[in-house]
Amino acid sequence: MAKSPIIQFRPVELPKSGTLVVFAGDNMALGEAARRVDGATDGLITSAANSQGFKGKRSATMLVPLPRGLDANALLVVGLGDLTKLKEADWSKLGGTVMGALPGGPQRDVTVFAETPDAPFTAYQAADFALGMSLRAYTFDIYKSKKSDEDDAVPRTVTIALADAAAAEARWTAAAAIGEGVYVARDLTNEPPNILGPVEFAERAAQLRDLGVEVTIMEPDELERLEMRALLGVAQGSSRPARVAVMEWKNGPAEVKPVAFVGKGVVFDTGGISIKPAAGMEDMKGDMAGAAAVVGTMHALAARKAKVNAIGVIGLVENMPDGNAQRPGDIVKSKSGQTIEIINTDAEGRLVLADLLTYTIERFSPSVVIDLATLTGAIIVALGNYHAGLYSDDDTVAAQLSDSGKATGDLVWRMPLSKDYDQLIDSKVADMKNTGGRWGGSITAAQFLRRFASDATWVHLDVAGTAMGSPSNETSRTFGSGFGVRLLERFVADFYEDGADAIPRGPAA
Ligand code: BES
Ligand code: MN
Ligand code: ZN
Repeated sequence: MAKSPIIQFRPVELPKSGTLVVFAGDNMALGEAARRVDGATDGLITSAANSQGFKGKRSATMLVPLPRGLDANALLVVGLGDLTKLKEADWSKLGGTVMGALPGGPQRDVTVFAETPDAPFTAYQAADFALGMSLRAYTFDIYKSKKSDEDDAVPRTVTIALADAAAAEARWTAAAAIGEGVYVARDLTNEPPNILGPVEFAERAAQLRDLGVEVTIMEPDELERLEMRALLGVAQGSSRPARVAVMEWKNGPAEVKPVAFVGKGVVFDTGGISIKPAAGMEDMKGDMAGAAAVVGTMHALAARKAKVNAIGVIGLVENMPDGNAQRPGDIVKSKSGQTIEIINTDAEGRLVLADLLTYTIERFSPSVVIDLATLTGAIIVALGNYHAGLYSDDDTVAAQLSDSGKATGDLVWRMPLSKDYDQLIDSKVADMKNTGGRWGGSITAAQFLRRFASDATWVHLDVAGTAMGSPSNETSRTFGSGFGVRLLERFVADFYEDGADAIPRGPAA
């Protein structure tokens, strides 16, 4: 839906028009191409920096309009700061910063001299930088009948200039696929709830067929047959029927077990009979951000033809109060056979995920199953908006995901699981209840899910604070951030895919 600018890679050459972007390190250290620009302009970069007190600090920017001696209409100098402190996740952030600092107006073609003072960007750095530019350019304005000036700010073309343009371009094909996946997740999360019900969401997931993903959509009668009564119980108060979408990307060796991603897709969460207060309820259109991240991840993997077997399973329901709605006090039998006493109908996500976990593990025996859910307000209290909560009994997978998070900027923080927390969800009348009381609400929600993970290697990501409504940053400006897509794509690339990297990632930056 939202469109990224056209991004291309070319050898270094001074542009004939538009905006030229060059980088400077601490104390205005310049690379070869930037020095050439400085020379062609009679030292303009240096003199402008002197007059503006610009020192090349990280993410600082200096705009020089109508630079004498250049055909470009504007020169943007961007600080890299201390090069030894640049981490891998910083390259996409830098791209976002540059996109955000571009001048408006007719300078709609952008050329970036992709070099540090020491060397040209590596292929990965250049592609990550381009990804950051593309992510920053994302807007969600399809419902605005009048576009603002800002809408014209996105450049028409971005040319990333560096000597080995071919290697960067090759890496960009994969990075662009990741960017598309993030766009898909954001579009789904941003879509208003009247437009995107369970049926419409399932149709969007089905579009993955165009990329070679097998997609099966299950309707309520089939879900009934599969005994997914915990999931169906959540949906029963809505006039819009539930859907479960199963996405299969099979591009690894046939004998290798798949990785599985399971997503909470509550298209709108009123709380049900345990209804939420009115203030801010509109944000609950984003209660499907976990499912959106699963679709976005499957998109990214398929679009870059990842050599992996990956499964996505999403549960699409609307949590509404009506005459047929589930009540506090109801006892439902989950697909696993375990019974659940409903204490609070607003603790609905875990009910959806419970049946999906049972189904996914029984049907696919995945090597690892990772669920993503905007599951609790409590995780926002605990971690705020800058880390998702990660729960797992498996130290290896937890550490791998932590690494993938640091590499991409989709950060996760491990949270505890234990018997003490687990017993808080014991029920007097059923096998368990769906809330664990006032304290540690994200943890007791995770303990609930754990009871449905049987003996699979399982990870739960509580993304309530990161995937929707989180503050703007370098690469994300809308309600839906697409959190999880880059994390999981990277997790697959680094730990579940062999021979994926035609280009070595190079020294860890
Ligand atoms: N979807 C909400 C959690 C949520 C809150 C997501 C804020 C994003 C932002 C979830 O279904 C919910 O309502 N959880 C309750 C659980 C409680 C009733 C045990 C919560 O967090 O208050
Ligand atoms: Mn809820
Ligand atoms: Zn919810």
